[in-house]
Amino acid sequence: MPVQRTIRVYDSAEELYQAAAALVSEQLQTAINERGRALVAFSGGSLTAYLYPLLAGTPWREQIDWTLVSVLFADERYVPFDDAENTYRATRQTLLDHVPVQAEQVFPVPTYYREPEQAAAIYHQQTAALLAAHGGKFDVVLLGIGPDGHTASLFPHHPALATPADKLAVVVRDAPKPPPVRLSLTPAAFNAARSVVFIASGESKAAAVAAALTGPGNPHAQPTRLIQPEGGSLYWLVDRAAGRLL
Ligand code: 6PG
Repeated sequence: MPVQRTIRVYDSAEELYQAAAALVSEQLQTAINERGRALVAFSGGSLTAYLYPLLAGTPWREQIDWTLVSVLFADERYVPFDDAENTYRATRQTLLDHVPVQAEQVFPVPTYYREPEQAAAIYHQQTAALLAAHGGKFDVVLLGIGPDGHTASLFPHHPALATPADKLAVVVRDAPKPPPVRLSLTPAAFNAARSVVFIASGESKAAAVAAALTGPGNPHAQPTRLIQPEGGSLYWLVDRAAGRLL
């Protein structure tokens, strides 16, 4: 089954994030209308600064029935929940604390185990259980891209890219972007999605966006290319600066 790819370039970062908020809200509400519930995976980084505060405010807050949404994370930095680098913490502060999501429907990556492998096993199980409860698919996966082409915590040429397809979560050590220990969902997990939305803003992303979207490419060098949700939609929403080389 083919993937339906859509690339949209916006004049400014502001327009990009407004459009992303509209798309996410529409996709979550469509899932709720069609199946009575929705499953979303959030990334960290600049989305916590620019997209989540929009979703937490009017009009988007009122357009999503958050009581019917379950929340997972696309990746997590292996630091405690109270660390400023923790994506769950940042997502709570910018979004989850401001919408009526059910506390028991939010599944942070359990970064309190001494061994990240233990946390990865739980992360895998939680993801598998949530997918099973949602017809086998995420409704929306939100992803960013780094200037080096990484997405979630899947870094170019990293051994984690070769994780077997039956594993939904992986430990990533020696990550080039700090902190060095992270957990990530795998390409197999992301490919179980009705919609994957990449969001990129700024000149520093231009080369990575072009490498991801043009030419024959190489999935080891551009891990975003591993994400092809069969039968689903793949969106790339970028601003003019990030899309400059397209
Ligand atoms: C993280 C992210 C990561 C992020 C990209 C882009 O926690 O570090 O999940 O994959 O999405 O690095 O980050 P920026 O949007 O901040 O550039």
